[in-house]
Amino acid sequence: MTRSWVVIDHEALRHNVAVIGRAVGAGPVLCAVVKADGYGHGAVEVARTVLDAGASGLAVAHAHEGAALRMAGIAAPVLLLSEPVDAAELRAVVEHRLQSAVYSEAGVDALAATGAELDVHLKVDTGMRRVGAEPADAVALAERIARSPHLRLLGLWTHCAVADEPDNAFTVVQLERFAEVADRLRRAGFEVPVLHVGNSAALFAHPGSHQDMVRPGIALYGVAPAPALASHAGVAELRPVLSWYAPVTMVKRVPAGEGVSYGHHRRTDRDTVVATVPVGYADGLPRRWGLRGGAVLVGGRRCPILGVVTMDQVMIDCGPDASVARGDEAVLIGRQGAVEITAVEVAMATDTIAYEILTRIGPRVLRRHVNR
Ligand SMILES: Cc1ncc(COP(=O)(O)O)c(C=O)c1O
Repeated sequence: MTRSWVVIDHEALRHNVAVIGRAVGAGPVLCAVVKADGYGHGAVEVARTVLDAGASGLAVAHAHEGAALRMAGIAAPVLLLSEPVDAAELRAVVEHRLQSAVYSEAGVDALAATGAELDVHLKVDTGMRRVGAEPADAVALAERIARSPHLRLLGLWTHCAVADEPDNAFTVVQLERFAEVADRLRRAGFEVPVLHVGNSAALFAHPGSHQDMVRPGIALYGVAPAPALASHAGVAELRPVLSWYAPVTMVKRVPAGEGVSYGHHRRTDRDTVVATVPVGYADGLPRRWGLRGGAVLVGGRRCPILGVVTMDQVMIDCGPDASVARGDEAVLIGRQGAVEITAVEVAMATDTIAYEILTRIGPRVLRRHVNR
């Protein structure tokens, strides 16, 4: 029994891995970013398919996400994208053989103190101003890592802040800063095996970001990293992996001029058929989508949302002549016949990015995996 489900198309996932592979060529390996439950798609299921399709590793944001991959039997390298934050995360890194980001003395020392043989990736902050060592501190940190008999410096990496803006020259600045750090380490005697920079936007728009490994997330899921990149070669070939469905649960004829939903922010402009669909903002459908041109697909047509999305349900205007019935399929994101609503469309209308729309699809929404 389910009121709402997403369908995850693994054929599309495999296709997107191939598109990314063609974009980066034979050199760099692919580390698939499956944090936040695989951007809402199901981390374990996504991980299995992308590894099978040619990815060589995975990346997560929390240690428990890495532990979950291991407990599902996944043996591929798993990179934790930031330093462990507490003893529990350190234990998970050791127990589940996660590779860890490092960028502080405390972070290096905590991993060294575990006494476990661990691969670490030194992260430098070249302009994101989130986590990462200052470029000037990179050699000292590498030396600190080298002093631990248990730690191996496997990776050197950074993260791009504006790669989704193809004309923003700051990505080139970040790549130059990264190259300088890599050079400084080389001159200090460190041959780091795996250099990596490229997220989805960078790998399509900046070949200089390819290095030895790329870390795509959103592109795997078939979504353009930014509207500005949607028509970029490669990006345009990506196929959305996720579609979101629910059944119509009630149909009623509503006269003209009636207010619908909380606050009566919208009124029917004619006598019409209103259908209720059991998906709400608690499931991740933005409340204001209903006030920003939002729609749901029913019967192969775009039916405008009437008023705000409520916590668990949303009301739509199917039109005066609609023959919609209880149980009919409604599409929140995806395609129905000739019409489509994309995560990017929902995001743009509600002042956010598709990443947020996808990762907020809640646990009440069943994940159905097809074409595995
Ligand atoms: C450090 C890091 N690398 C790679 C990615 C993947 O980025 P994208 O989904 O834009 O490809 C992310 C995602 O936010 C990230 O935080």
